[in-house]
Amino acid sequence: MIVNLRDTGVMKYTGLIREMNTPIARSACVITFGCQQNEADSEKLRGMLTDMGYTTAPSPEEADVIIMNTCAVRAHAENKVLSMLGKFKDKKTADPSVIIGVVGCMAAEQGTVDLLRRAFKYVSFTIEPNMISRLPEVMWRAANSERMFVIGTDKGDVVEGIPTERAGGHRAWVSVMYGCNNFCSYCIVPYVRGRERSRDSADVIAECRDLIAGGCREITLLGQNVNSYSSDTDFAGLLKRITDIPGDYRVRFMTSHPKDVSDALIDIMAERGDKIPPYFHLPLQSGSDRILHEMNRTYNREKYLKTVEKLRQKIPGIVISTDIIVGFPGETEEEFSETLDMLRTVRYDMVYAFIYSPREGTRAAKMDCQIPGDVKSERIGRLLRMQDEISLEKNTEYVGTVQRVLVDSVKTDGDGRLLSGRTPGNKLVHFRSATSAPGDFINVKITRAAPFNLFGELAKE
Ligand code: SAH
Ligand code: SF4
Ligand code: F3S
Repeated sequence: MIVNLRDTGVMKYTGLIREMNTPIARSACVITFGCQQNEADSEKLRGMLTDMGYTTAPSPEEADVIIMNTCAVRAHAENKVLSMLGKFKDKKTADPSVIIGVVGCMAAEQGTVDLLRRAFKYVSFTIEPNMISRLPEVMWRAANSERMFVIGTDKGDVVEGIPTERAGGHRAWVSVMYGCNNFCSYCIVPYVRGRERSRDSADVIAECRDLIAGGCREITLLGQNVNSYSSDTDFAGLLKRITDIPGDYRVRFMTSHPKDVSDALIDIMAERGDKIPPYFHLPLQSGSDRILHEMNRTYNREKYLKTVEKLRQKIPGIVISTDIIVGFPGETEEEFSETLDMLRTVRYDMVYAFIYSPREGTRAAKMDCQIPGDVKSERIGRLLRMQDEISLEKNTEYVGTVQRVLVDSVKTDGDGRLLSGRTPGNKLVHFRSATSAPGDFINVKITRAAPFNLFGELAKE
């Protein structure tokens, strides 16, 4: 049976044929790799599995169904998946009723799907990320020993109403858009996630309203490029409508492309600072104008620095983080030092740095002058050492301040309860408290700083 989901642009999940999936005490395990989009998709996969009657297995070893939600952004991510997959072969041989599926971004790469089909016979199915709503049908076929590979069927739908089993408790992901149109020359995402589509604002707002009513304290709006959100409003308008919902909560978002951070977005952040915390992830990728051009990023240093200046002017104390790619094809030592120079100029709170990884099918993978591995490693080492110092200096500025922390987790050690949470600027804080629990907002006085986190104590009222 084929479920036709191609009638309109926005569709309602029906769970068609889920009744036919009648597991008897069968359990499932979803393993997630990659970014927050995948985390959010895994919550939907778990929701559909529960809806079909599967229980949650504590580990893949104990599961009757294993679904790997994969990432294709760097070779390292793909290799991890393939080596883990190899470990499940014996499990399938021992019990042929076990179902092993691969979903996520690797399942959208034709070459990878061909490989899994040919050389990984124990993989029952693959589903590309845009089509996960077809899981019930695919599972039903797998249970009847029919292999199915859902790829390239369609990259343009938004399916609403997929059951979701949220993992976060007081924190939740809410996707506002899918796909990417930017085609940065190094990046596989537009190929595996398809073109940009936005959800209707009414659907997004209804989801946020339900979450807040249910006690959610922090919503993170997700999209590869949230600033391109477009329905009956733009992203700034969407943030305005969401933060009109009364309550004590925070709204974060990621990721923003520097080319279209609008004044309206900065203004709404400044205006709604109580609900939209002063934090901005603004991926730079490289500090060299030539490399930025080769990357197809469509901004240069000057334009980027202007955005940073505007953010800092309108939102005092804003915390800014970034992504950097080291060793893009042709990157000279001088061009790399321009990246270091940008790090010194902007003084980011946090930098996520990656060694460039050629992705088949992207323009950069075909470029001459790929940089040797040892050069890339040496450069990233230098960059990280420099940034550690800057991060520590930035964090030290918080010592003595009182921060409103959202508690995320608690553990008990020999000295009592140790809590971890996030400041408005998204900095991780560890502190002790006999009473506070995850989901509480609490004032914490910062007493000590490290490059990646802060330490504090309960502030006196
Ligand atoms: N849409 C987001 C996230 C994209 S993937 C954005 O544009 O910011 C997250 C990060 O992975 C990117 O910001 C980039 O720094 C890194 N990345 C993407 N492709 C890569 C590649 N081929 N090699 C190394 N890092 C890569
Ligand atoms: Fe990749 Fe660029 Fe799109 Fe981000 S904006 S997902 S880096 S193509
Ligand atoms: Fe990876 Fe796909 Fe996210 S490639 S980074 S899981 S969009």
